[in-house]
Amino acid sequence: MPRPRVLSGVQPTGALHLGNWLGAIRNWVALQDSHDTYFCVVDLHAITVPHDPARLAEDTLTTAALYLACGIDPQRSTVFVQSHVSAHSELAWLLNCVTPLNWLERMIQFKEKAIKQGDQVSVGLLDYPVLMAADILLYDADLVPVGEDQKQHLELARDIAQQRINARFAPRDAAGEPIPVLKVPEPLILKDGARVMGLTDGSSKMSKSDPNEGSRISLLDPPELITKKIKRAKTDPTMGLEFGNPERPEADNLLGLYALLAGKSREQASQECGAMGWGTFKPLLAEAAVEALRPVQERYQQWRQDPGAVEAVLRDGQAQAATVAEETLDRVRQALGFLPRS
Ligand code: TYM
Repeated sequence: MPRPRVLSGVQPTGALHLGNWLGAIRNWVALQDSHDTYFCVVDLHAITVPHDPARLAEDTLTTAALYLACGIDPQRSTVFVQSHVSAHSELAWLLNCVTPLNWLERMIQFKEKAIKQGDQVSVGLLDYPVLMAADILLYDADLVPVGEDQKQHLELARDIAQQRINARFAPRDAAGEPIPVLKVPEPLILKDGARVMGLTDGSSKMSKSDPNEGSRISLLDPPELITKKIKRAKTDPTMGLEFGNPERPEADNLLGLYALLAGKSREQASQECGAMGWGTFKPLLAEAAVEALRPVQERYQQWRQDPGAVEAVLRDGQAQAATVAEETLDRVRQALGFLPRS
């Protein structure tokens, strides 16, 4: 039996933060033991908002090196750059032509990002989820490990595969039964870490696009900066850390971060910090964050000392990914009735 397939990706827009790590990349690592894993740096997604061409290549390499530093093993996983496999753009076009416009207009992330950009919103931003569907469907992914904010995009990918491609274009076998063209993927959203909130506001998500750097901890922040950001993090006047009190989103978020970073269960963290004042808790959280990120930062430096090594991983990844992707793309071209290439 072939192993079930996993695909996921992160955009190379600025430094990755604790949300990207705890909500996504950290969960990819364990899947390498049981699944056939594909991880791409989604650079085509990164240009759906205004971007700096002088930074894109460097940020792409940084993101790939961070995957490796976080424990993605190129011997066991295919690590590649989305734009290096042109099948992503081509499948996105084919899917565009069967995806209703109003499915895209109701996407929450589109609406949120579009509000910020006014009349500068690109067609690419609207189309972002279709490209994401192409990323996933090209690899016949069974499972897509992502944070909570990607749930709606995953549902869209499933609907496109099921309702817009399989239901309409599946060829029939000898018995007249439809042969699905695309695999319908499942999201994998683990409860812990699926929604890491910002440090300056416990009710808004930690995000790369927040103009306030102090709202997030980047995976490459030096220890002093991590400590400083945590020291300045928003608190409330109540004594003791607790989960689940809607009046205290910061307590819930920071206690959750502590549990994840210190490798403790939520119960253990609650017991340990339930009676603690913020002044005692914050240094403890800072130390847990620094220690959790230390090995990632060390491995990152090792990879970055040899940029050729990261590029070699991406070159191998491109070749492996393109083989799988081309096969799927061909299946879709055939199902849609294109004249075969000779
Ligand atoms: P991006 O770069 O915005 O986010 C990458 C991953 O990090 C997760 N994430 C979070 N998780 C918990 N708390 C947070 N505050 C937080 N912020 C971000 C996201 O859920 C995501 O898993 N659209 C994808 C990129 C993508 C993709 C794909 C993912 C493109 N094609 C195919 C999976 C499969 C995204 O959100 O990127």
